[in-house]
Amino acid sequence: MNNARFRHFIAEFTRLSERADGDEKRIHTDGAILLADIVRNDDWLPDEFAKPHPQYYQQYLLYCDPLERFSVVSFVWGPGQKTPVHDHTVWGLLGVMRGAELCQRYDVPTAGTPMRAHPQERLTLYGIDRVSPAVGDIHEVANAYADRLSISIHVYGANIGAVKRHVFDTASGTCKDFVSGYSNTTLPNVWDRSAEVRATL
Ligand code: FE2
Repeated sequence: MNNARFRHFIAEFTRLSERADGDEKRIHTDGAILLADIVRNDDWLPDEFAKPHPQYYQQYLLYCDPLERFSVVSFVWGPGQKTPVHDHTVWGLLGVMRGAELCQRYDVPTAGTPMRAHPQERLTLYGIDRVSPAVGDIHEVANAYADRLSISIHVYGANIGAVKRHVFDTASGTCKDFVSGYSNTTLPNVWDRSAEVRATL
């Protein structure tokens, strides 16, 4: 596992958080460049955080900034799996590292009326998508494949698993509170650099 690559990503995203100081546009633009690099170089995600579940898509927390300015999550989609229609309430970046995904956006609903869907978009390998209340925050994401896994890496502007957000019923335009949590209870140890230091002895 190329832990150095993910450590570099975390460090760069931390620097970006400092520099951008909450400027979402800047985070979306500069963060997409950082994310594109780690999804194009698929040698760093430990297998444990790339494991599918037979029934449910998995969301593994890989890192959370100590100040909860951002979190990094691997989404693992089994064949045909998809999210409910949901929002985020914070900025988010999504990059496809294996397979492909289908993203279906919706407008903010007026309760009592069906939700307006945008044309479905296919996010191919290495494709990047952005969400936020300012640029469009409500969508459904699905594995584009019925016969294989897809994996995407997501970065959000909060400790996303602990954010109170919403799932929507598209027919009625109503929503329910939702807190996603995470599928894992331990995080990858990317900080053990002892081997490289020993090699210099
Ligand atoms: Fe989402």
